[in-house]
Amino acid sequence: MTASDKFQTQDVGTARLTYGDQEIELPLLEGSEGERAIDISALRKMTSLVTLDEGFVNTGSTRSAITFLDGEKGILRYRGYPIEELAAHCDFIEVAYLLIHGELPDSEQAAAFRSGIRHHTMIHEDMRSFYNGFPRDAHPMAILSSVVGALSTFYQDSMQVDDPEQVEISIFRLIAKLPTIAAYSYKKSIGQPFMYPNNDLDYCENFLHMMFATPAHEHMIDPDFAEALNLLLIVHADHEQNCSTSTVRMVGSSNANLFASISAGIGALWGPLHGGANEACVSMLEQIAADGGNVKKYVDMAKDKNNSFRLMGFGHRVYKNFDPRAKIIRACCDKLLSKLNIDDPLFDVAQELQEVALKDEYFVERKLYPNVDFYSGVIYRAMGIPVQMFTVLFAIGRLPGWIAHWRELHANPGKRIYRPRQIYTGDTERKVVPIEQR
Ligand code: CMC
Repeated sequence: MTASDKFQTQDVGTARLTYGDQEIELPLLEGSEGERAIDISALRKMTSLVTLDEGFVNTGSTRSAITFLDGEKGILRYRGYPIEELAAHCDFIEVAYLLIHGELPDSEQAAAFRSGIRHHTMIHEDMRSFYNGFPRDAHPMAILSSVVGALSTFYQDSMQVDDPEQVEISIFRLIAKLPTIAAYSYKKSIGQPFMYPNNDLDYCENFLHMMFATPAHEHMIDPDFAEALNLLLIVHADHEQNCSTSTVRMVGSSNANLFASISAGIGALWGPLHGGANEACVSMLEQIAADGGNVKKYVDMAKDKNNSFRLMGFGHRVYKNFDPRAKIIRACCDKLLSKLNIDDPLFDVAQELQEVALKDEYFVERKLYPNVDFYSGVIYRAMGIPVQMFTVLFAIGRLPGWIAHWRELHANPGKRIYRPRQIYTGDTERKVVPIEQR
């Protein structure tokens, strides 16, 4: 497929819409995996009607050649490659290259990409002083979004969205610096000195080093932790037009620079309805463990239609058979827990819940399998990552996806600023009454 083919859909006929005494025909399009859509872009011109779809539950906002997912069949593919194969054969940096550039790198391309990233892992010394101004208990996602936004104050020479060289260096800077910015936010929260990156380490090892080493103590990186982190970053790397990715596209569509667009995406990811679910899952496991580990009580609460309690980390809006990401990291979770042999009631609760969900009729009938957030929360906890950092790790994983979508947006010859319409429901015209008469 050539680059411009990737924006193409097939014309497969028309759909007819009857409106009043008018009948109009709208183009019917088909994507490369057989998904069909009605192209309504000319609808307003033809009928003066707009479409209404609150929450964009059935709106295709773009043609995209990056990620395909089929929730019914449990399929997730980046650039055509199944997530299972990528997880088995590639590391996160190769996957990042694939998402951003469209093809897996050969060894020369991979080496150049890694070296471009390594070159930029430190943050400007003046940027470190920002951290003095943040309160100690600031949420690391707030710090991440602020400091990423501030990159555009330091790199004013690389913000032209239509200059490929400037975009490329911004991509290297972002991928390289995000783990450093994130680890510093954790060090700040516990009052420890910041650790400079160590470029002899690979991407995941380096993050663990900056998180857990101190100048007084060299941290021995557990290779199983680095491997688990690598897997988690891969399975989070893209998920097509989700809330944060759509945010990055929305901001980018105004030609805002890459740093500003990614900073906005981090803000969107922070919300508990999006990236915050793994944090909510561990809080729930803690609550159950503190309540004596009475799993049955909470399962009954989740099944009780008069109770709004839900088991966090179970069920999925899109994946109705299984979450392919959860399947991949479940094996990693089992391996890590049995190796560490940690005596933590939270893990017993997690184990019991998993068994309930896989056997209990309520969960089986409704296809409520443990999702990616269930296992990622448990793995992060086992690695000693504090709960507040879970969404930050999601952001590090999702970054290549955001960048890929931002680049795709700009490469699209039909690119337009995102500007949805609305149906106004407020007051009709009225007269202003001067303040003394109100
Ligand atoms: N615990 C108990 N019952 C549940 C749960 C749950 N976690 N999830 C769904 N149900 C029940 C729900 O009550 C309904 O029952 P009934 O048919 O009797 O009315 C049925 O299952 C279908 O649920 P739904 O609300 O129609 O499903 P949905 O697709 O709207 O919601 C969900 C999906 C993920 C929001 C929901 O399953 C949920 O709230 N899960 C817990 C939160 C969570 O783990 N979120 C992370 C999702 S993965 C993150 C990502 O991919 O970005």
